[in-house]
Amino acid sequence: MGPEEGTSPTLTMPGYLPRLADKEIGSALRRRGAVLVEGCRACGKTWAARNVARSEARLDDEATLLIAEADPVALLQGVTPRLLDEWQNAPRLWNRVRRECDDRARLGQFVLTGSAAPHDDITRHTGVGRIARVLMRPMSLYESGDSTGALSLGRLFEGEAISVLPSGAGLRDVASAVCVGGWPGSLALEEVDARLAVADYVSEVVRLDVPTASGVRHRPAAVRRLMRSLARHVATEAKTTTLVSDVGGGSVLARSTVNAYLEALERVFLVENQPAWSVGLRSRATLRRAPKRHFVDPSLAASMLRASPERLLADPRTFGLLFESLVVRDLRIYSQPDRGEVFHYRDDTGLEVDAVIERDDGRWIAVEVKLSSAPDVVDEAAKSLLRLRDKVARNRVENLAALMVVTSTGPAYRRSDNVQVTPITELGP
Ligand SMILES: Nc1ncnc2c1ncn2[C@@H]1O[C@H](COP(=O)(O)OP(=O)(O)OP(=O)(O)O)[C@@H](O)[C@H]1O
Ligand SMILES: [Mg+2]
Repeated sequence: MGPEEGTSPTLTMPGYLPRLADKEIGSALRRRGAVLVEGCRACGKTWAARNVARSEARLDDEATLLIAEADPVALLQGVTPRLLDEWQNAPRLWNRVRRECDDRARLGQFVLTGSAAPHDDITRHTGVGRIARVLMRPMSLYESGDSTGALSLGRLFEGEAISVLPSGAGLRDVASAVCVGGWPGSLALEEVDARLAVADYVSEVVRLDVPTASGVRHRPAAVRRLMRSLARHVATEAKTTTLVSDVGGGSVLARSTVNAYLEALERVFLVENQPAWSVGLRSRATLRRAPKRHFVDPSLAASMLRASPERLLADPRTFGLLFESLVVRDLRIYSQPDRGEVFHYRDDTGLEVDAVIERDDGRWIAVEVKLSSAPDVVDEAAKSLLRLRDKVARNRVENLAALMVVTSTGPAYRRSDNVQVTPITELGP
């Protein structure tokens, strides 16, 4: 520990709500020289980083940027952990930070944040062993206070059964959560303003971020059409050819251009697909491999579709898909600290399961997502889950921690067939 460490307080942000990434960032600083906090624009990276940092340099400021170019070493001086915010504006800093970590031979020196990986992507190849990475997403319902978290995914992995009486949340609240999204900057806004903020956000991304990230000649209207097409296909396995024909409209847009836009949307962490689960089966059924399409937050799709809560309530099919996307977002966030990944399952016999959370120790939970908590709907979902259990190879069944139906509303309870039922507003890490 250096003399300056442990004495000065972290930077202040009144009203800071704890994030699930906080623990991961802290742990990264205890085992590495630096941590990179990355994720989509406005998901709360800077605040989470300031929450642990004791000094900062913000590279979205002209003067700071000049110093970064002229005298990068000077920029790295300061009480540690030192925040380098928007570091990608001065990409050469990456190697500087790496070298500085080596020279100082100390842990927890720097926190870097950025909302887009630079195009040549130096970060993928260097810095291994010195700079840890923590991915942030918008807030889950638990982080924004819209879920009690009574039904802990962690405890479910330990094999606990959990019952909770219904909370006050109704379907209208869930529709609102889909449209407003988990943007921390919108927490204090009225619903109508929060929805406008999502629309502004999409415009900014299309205008500013995608061109930088894609590196191809950029047609904002085409990127918008692509995002609208993705929105229509959220939580489905739509093929790229489908997107290409949607985007082309009357004219033909090259598949390679659409691929470049898709890559750019992934590079700025806005699009995050859900890969197919790869698992051994007892029967000779064949797994389907296509990933499901998702935005990092369901509000982006809702905004592209001009969906209001009222329109979603009147259109259960669209609501169902966007709700599934909301659940996938939260499952990803809740399982990330334990290094869980979220997949989906589909085979050629027609069996589908909406989500499979798999941890790196091999334990897994299978999840069906249902907008309705009506008994017959839950029965149907439970049947699919039980079929999946009977299908996967015996050695994997031993690792099965739970089968769960996630609903929008209603009580949390364990059925007699041992399937756990949970409304999204009770789910937590
Ligand atoms: N943990 C939090 N608790 C309460 N409000 C938060 C929290 N995190 C972020 N906010 C609010 O959200 C806004 C955006 O957060 P922040 O600037 O950290 O996002 P970012 O990911 O760094 O965005 P950008 O990509 O634009 O740099 C903040 O100005 C603040 O108002
Ligand atoms: Mg920031």
